[in-house]
Amino acid sequence: MTLALIERGQERFRIYCTPCHSELGDGHGMVVQRGFPPPPSYHTDRLREAPVQHFYDVTTNGYGAMYSFADRVQPEDRWAIAAFIRALQRSQHATLADVAADQRGALQ
Ligand code: HEC
Repeated sequence: MTLALIERGQERFRIYCTPCHSELGDGHGMVVQRGFPPPPSYHTDRLREAPVQHFYDVTTNGYGAMYSFADRVQPEDRWAIAAFIRALQRSQHATLADVAADQRGALQ
């Protein structure tokens, strides 16, 4: 796992996934605001506990109303997106303990 991989995942996520899932991953993307069925938030307990493989598989095979991205997103990029989603999930459940000690003061 490298920062470069997560950044690649973020870039690909912005292109392919945010139209429906939104930058935050809460499922309120632009396409949804125009009538596409809403996806679940990534920040539910079920999806926070899902293995990283699940995100890879959904991108590969599609899921319910969501179509497959297998022809647009290559396998390495599916893993990069899955790694970024995991980081996004953590970011929405961060505590002060996740912040570097010398920067906590600014938040308290
Ligand atoms: C055109 C809209 C759209 C786009 C673009 C989209 N999704 Fe989805 N996604 C959905 C919808 C709708 C669902 C819910 C499908 C259902 O439950 O029938 C969903 C569900 C999911 C789920 C949850 C599956 C579960 O277990 O409930 C994951 C994970 C996911 N998408 C990942 C992605 C990733 C990664 C991308 C980008 C590569 C992406 N989606 C792009 C619409 C979209």
